[in-house]
Amino acid sequence: MSSAKVGIHVPIMVDEVIESLQARKGGMFLDCTFGSGGHTKAILDASPDAWVVALDRDRRAIQRGEALSAQYGERLALVHAPFADLEHAVSFKGFDGILADLGMSTDQLKEGRGFSFADEGAFDMRMDEGSGMSAQEFVNTAAERELYVALAEGGVGQNARVIAKIIAEKRPFQSARELADVIKQAHVGKKSESRVHPATVVFQALRMRINDEIGQLEHFLHAVPNVSKKGTRFAVITFHSIEDKIVTNRMRSWESAGSYPASWRGARTETRVGHVVNRKAIAPSDEEIERNPASRSARLRVLEFEKDFSK
Ligand SMILES: C[S@@+](CC[C@H](N)C(=O)[O-])C[C@H]1O[C@@H](n2cnc3c(N)ncnc32)[C@H](O)[C@@H]1O
Repeated sequence: MSSAKVGIHVPIMVDEVIESLQARKGGMFLDCTFGSGGHTKAILDASPDAWVVALDRDRRAIQRGEALSAQYGERLALVHAPFADLEHAVSFKGFDGILADLGMSTDQLKEGRGFSFADEGAFDMRMDEGSGMSAQEFVNTAAERELYVALAEGGVGQNARVIAKIIAEKRPFQSARELADVIKQAHVGKKSESRVHPATVVFQALRMRINDEIGQLEHFLHAVPNVSKKGTRFAVITFHSIEDKIVTNRMRSWESAGSYPASWRGARTETRVGHVVNRKAIAPSDEEIERNPASRSARLRVLEFEKDFSK
């Protein structure tokens, strides 16, 4: 199939994803984070018998995808929905493979929506621009304690309190750039010689709060078994330890539920639902990291379901 590129985002670990989902066998696949369609396209190209339902909560992503829809016809269905609402958004159950490539796309980063430190325009950060509070509103109006909680939960660590205080003192902010400059000048966060901008984790934490990324992930993981069947491969790419830990814990609980020690006399209310395919998370190769530095922190985890839940 020719390549209709629908955005600038470079998909991560494409071969590993195709392998993990066993997409060459064909079947019905669910891409929960369509983005710029790189993984969806790779799945569709892996087999003429592969069909994809692709979700994204960002309407712009779905619009970008129309070029792919034109190319693949009825083999691709695009749905504008957050993956937490999976069971309402998708009528099919019993997918052969399910993928979630978490976080944001390079397209979102470059669209001047406040995801980047350099953005002078809309300080928005909502993936779904039609719902919820913008980053500007949150940063300029939230109580200092609420800012602190968002930063702490988003991985800012011991600097969360001092950064929340600085934000409360220096606001209002008109742009992402203004906020990034204030954090940089305050010399908190990463060491000054580091190549990482000191506002990196702060922006990640704000994005997670504005988009309720942890809540979305928890609800999503709850819903996934309900659209799976025996043999469904479930692959997740995470970009930081907070989400990786949530995914790992859930996969382990799916694997270990029901396998109690022989001496266990308690009620067995849960049953094992699947097994982890790779003990260790799959990481991008050195070559991929060189070619696409944005892949550096990506980790791919894969589980195979062992039961039919979709009936
Ligand atoms: C890293 S990109 C995916 C890139 C994609 N795999 C590709 O190859 O182009 C993440 C995408 O997931 C979407 N997204 C993030 N959280 C979401 C959620 N809760 N529900 C649906 N889509 C979400 C974002 O809007 C973004 O487009």
